[in-house]
Amino acid sequence: MKKIIASDPEARSADVVAQNVERLKALFPEAFSEGKIDFDVLKQLLGDEVDERGEKYGLDWHGKRQARQLALTPSTGTLRPCPEESLDWDTTQNLMIEGDNLEVLKLLQKSYAGKVKLIYIDPPYNTGKDFIYPDNYRDSIQNYLKLTGQIDGDNRKLSSNTEASGRFHTDWLNMMYPRLKLARNLLRPDGVILISVDDTEVAHGRLMCDEMFGSENFVAEIIWEGANKNDARQIGICHEYVLIYGRNREQIQHDWSIKKEGIEPVLKEVERLKAKHGDDYATASDELAGWFRAMKATPSFGQRRFRNIDVNGAYKEDDPTAPGGRHFDLRNPCTGDIIPLRPNRGWGFDQEGFNRLVAQGRISFVSDTSVMVKRYLHETDKVIPPSVFYQPARSASERLTRLMGSNIFDFPKDETVLNKFVEMVTEPDDHAWITLDFFAGSGSTAHAVMDRNAMDNGNRRYILVQLPEPVNPQNKDQKAAADFCDKLGKPHNIAELAKERLRRAAKKIEQDNPLFAGDLGFRVFKLDTSNIRVWEPDRDDLEGTLLDSVDHIKPGRSEEDILYELLLKLGLDLCVPIETRTIAGKSVRSIGAGILLTCLAESITRAEVEPLALGIVAWNKELAPAGNATVLFRDNAFEDDVAKTNLTAILEQHGLGNLRSL
Ligand SMILES: C[S@@+](CC[C@H](N)C(=O)[O-])C[C@H]1O[C@@H](n2cnc3c(N)ncnc32)[C@H](O)[C@@H]1O
Repeated sequence: MKKIIASDPEARSADVVAQNVERLKALFPEAFSEGKIDFDVLKQLLGDEVDERGEKYGLDWHGKRQARQLALTPSTGTLRPCPEESLDWDTTQNLMIEGDNLEVLKLLQKSYAGKVKLIYIDPPYNTGKDFIYPDNYRDSIQNYLKLTGQIDGDNRKLSSNTEASGRFHTDWLNMMYPRLKLARNLLRPDGVILISVDDTEVAHGRLMCDEMFGSENFVAEIIWEGANKNDARQIGICHEYVLIYGRNREQIQHDWSIKKEGIEPVLKEVERLKAKHGDDYATASDELAGWFRAMKATPSFGQRRFRNIDVNGAYKEDDPTAPGGRHFDLRNPCTGDIIPLRPNRGWGFDQEGFNRLVAQGRISFVSDTSVMVKRYLHETDKVIPPSVFYQPARSASERLTRLMGSNIFDFPKDETVLNKFVEMVTEPDDHAWITLDFFAGSGSTAHAVMDRNAMDNGNRRYILVQLPEPVNPQNKDQKAAADFCDKLGKPHNIAELAKERLRRAAKKIEQDNPLFAGDLGFRVFKLDTSNIRVWEPDRDDLEGTLLDSVDHIKPGRSEEDILYELLLKLGLDLCVPIETRTIAGKSVRSIGAGILLTCLAESITRAEVEPLALGIVAWNKELAPAGNATVLFRDNAFEDDVAKTNLTAILEQHGLGNLRSL
């Protein structure tokens, strides 16, 4: 039985440098000598593409090198599961992760590399008042725990970044750079990132992204108009930006489109009326016309010509002629009568096309000699997304306040606009692919994904990452949020607000869409130090670490904690199906349909070895996994060496040779 040690892949988050070196080796084996890169050879192989001039085009700032390095250092942390704070833990595929996003992005590298279709982020805009989380290069997780007040220390000193600091833009760039670098790895080849910024950082943000993603992968710089500010002295700025980059623009397969304004409620109402009236389309159409009258103040009113319903949906009747169309004697295929053509007009089809439309029921005969053509709403309901979006900023705040019953979060992004972004980039059945927001705030992106799924019966997944940034009851702007947390009996922080928002949004979507049976849940995970001592040696006390490692696993950590750390470090999805059985009184888990079996019980006596091993063998046979199963135990669980040796022998005898302990 092989004991997993710190240098084993099962014990580490992704090593980005090692992965890059492997890629380079595959491309340029000649440039490697004794396992190291020979830059002279590499340069020769790249010929004229190497730029050796001293002055280069691009964005540079103090700390860039270190920021790059920061993205490459593997994490020593883990994500601990919190089923009690989750919604539908057993069935959901969505994740809400509490923690510093730099560490979390590192931890997600193995399990989610190349799986994210859409990243939307709304990072702090660097207005001087919004804090920038100070990264600590040496001991990131301890720094995080101290700052968020989870262990003793100079907690709550989340820094602000004033223009007077002299490092104003530098700090923002240093914060964004490593995060974007890690985020890029998570994108699918056809994945896309959207980044909200305002005038403060748009110029730097764009140059940084040009470098990070390649300027050839720039898709657009969207203007998002929200509010007209009257307090400016020269120009009232009423917009911000969304920078859009593809991981590889060439790979984006489908043309992007979004539904025209106000269409979705009409389609929903038509479905309702069809369900209510069956094939009594006349009554359904009458009620639809009444519904349009009641929608006068909404964008849906603009679609009121589509007030008729038939088996195919809502349609309007259009003139089938146009100036400059075809001139011929069109005949009614049922009666043979000629249908007269108005002066200066021509038909929009030939006789054959007309006959086909009649057969499809797409022609309305006003009389035997007068026709209209039916145009269905669902066939003309899409537009290419424009580069300017308008949505008054206040309406999102008002909706969130109504949902939460109190004004708990300033300036949430409008989930209806985010919904359009989700619609344009992703497909409804993108089940395996994920929408990620690692500056989640109040959780608007997840709300948008759920709304979108409810609208088109989709099964998109989301991952949110949010720092438990404290809200301070002493600060008048944050008092309502702190009071809200008190009412919930939860700690004062933004991650708690986000979780509660997701719960409430899920409930509302369920109520508003009784026919929708999709995933409205989320699994909560929290960033913490690794469960396994030897995987994160204390640099100041190596001897102590080694002594501690007699018992590998930290006190207070559960079997589930260890299990999910293992999933992360093996690169498995945190929502992979896990089945549990009790064998010889111990919990045994099958992960990914039996590819990994774990028994993390704290003790295994000699007497328990045989029934346990035979039970595992029988279950493995039943599961018949696609490859050889790995079986994992807790190293110090065995009563003695005999127990361990016997168990190993029985399992190996039955073909289970991949045995590990930790
Ligand atoms: C501008 S807000 C996002 C608002 C969000 N779009 C919404 O609609 O509610 C940025 C959020 O990022 C969070 N944040 C800042 N630094 C972070 C970090 N290092 N890790 C995770 N979250 C962070 C802040 O707590 C803040 O809530």
